[in-house]
Amino acid sequence: MAPKSYIAQVGRFLGQEVTLEGWVYNHTHKGKLHFVMLRDGTGIIQAVIFRDTVGEAAFEKSLQLTLESSVRISGIVTEDKRAKGGFELQAQAIEILQIAPEYPISPKEHGIDFLMENRHLWLRSSLQHAIMKVRHEIIKACRDYFDQLDFTLIDAPIFTPAACEGTTTLFETDYFDSKAYLTQSGQLYMEAAAMAFGKVYCFGPTFRAEKSKTRRHLTEFWMIEPEMAFCDLQQDMAVAEGLIMKILERVLENRREELKKLERDLAPLEVIRTPFPRMPYDEAAAILKKENPDFIEGDDFGAPDETILSQQHSSPVMISHYPVGVKAFYMKADPQQPDRALCVDVLAPEGYGEIIGGGQREDDLEVLLNKIRAHKLPEEAFAWYLDLRRFGSVPHAGFGMGIERTVTWICGLKHIRETIPFPRTMSRIYP
Ligand code: 4AD
Ligand code: MG
Repeated sequence: MAPKSYIAQVGRFLGQEVTLEGWVYNHTHKGKLHFVMLRDGTGIIQAVIFRDTVGEAAFEKSLQLTLESSVRISGIVTEDKRAKGGFELQAQAIEILQIAPEYPISPKEHGIDFLMENRHLWLRSSLQHAIMKVRHEIIKACRDYFDQLDFTLIDAPIFTPAACEGTTTLFETDYFDSKAYLTQSGQLYMEAAAMAFGKVYCFGPTFRAEKSKTRRHLTEFWMIEPEMAFCDLQQDMAVAEGLIMKILERVLENRREELKKLERDLAPLEVIRTPFPRMPYDEAAAILKKENPDFIEGDDFGAPDETILSQQHSSPVMISHYPVGVKAFYMKADPQQPDRALCVDVLAPEGYGEIIGGGQREDDLEVLLNKIRAHKLPEEAFAWYLDLRRFGSVPHAGFGMGIERTVTWICGLKHIRETIPFPRTMSRIYP
């Protein structure tokens, strides 16, 4: 058998024979010629099966191929200027691995429910493929960014004894003779790790029993969460800004083709510049009072508020100093204005809204203990967390960036559900 190649690399074998393995994307035949579009995950190439070359029996057998049947084709790589990848395969031999029955997904319009029900197959389609490639690039950019800044990757646990982001969205599970909760955020563990390593991050799945059916919420989503010892809100914001710029640089460098396929207008991504606009809550609230009659000053921002704010600037907007009452228990209050938290939300432009939430953490033992009590959280479960303020407490800060929200924005999608391979929402846990 000729050496194996992937379609994306066939150019290296110009004029030589290679073996390609994949699935039938499309096919047509005319007389002694059978044209098979072969897809292998790296690209698509046309294989030309000529009866006189492969032999009568193999040719007839190849005509039984259907969409998504699996095959192995050996052939000589030739140049074809008209072909998308620039090459064609002149088949010498074809081996059929499996003939697929009628494939449920066709180029015709399917409803979203049907496609989600067939997500395991839908992932093969070119748009979904493009989204996953962009997702991969974004995750890689995040990892590279923190690695280059000398952060240490520290994995956070999934089973946890207590809430990080409020008790209303906890998933509870039996844990032998007691209860456990699926993690809402790795943050508290990253705070422990930052006291051991200085600069750390975790990247993993997080869970929230979101009862709202919105286009921005999943019940299982992936978050990248840096945490830094000896860091204040301003420094934290600079790290977040750098992360977003790194992501933009990478996707514009490596994933233009995929973004074009998704019909993403690249101009709004290309104009993003640092420094991002920074705005305290009060300034944002003043804008909202004019633009949204439903907005109540002092409340957290809803999705429509974020949309309004994020449409006002071409770069992401960083909103800080929310009222302490609308934010999590661990946020440090601003010593200058104690009813405001040293926190930041980063809103992606074009109306996409929040992609990052973070800030400076409360580092005083007594204040933190009182906050835990005021939020009616189980004190015993936080004993270890309080220890961090007992043994060498330092100012520290961090943030969490939702991968799927970021992919939604970068790809210019209307809904978050296509940004994760197998989405979990209130109404979906299959496939
Ligand atoms: O703002 P959040 O709740 O912040 C935290 O969890 C902090 N503990 C993070 C930290 O400081 N280490 O969530 C952070 C981000 C949001 O900005 C959003 O991008 C994403 O996580 N996110 C969701 N993404 C999809 N579906 C949901 N239900 C999400 N909830 C939050
Ligand atoms: Mg948030």
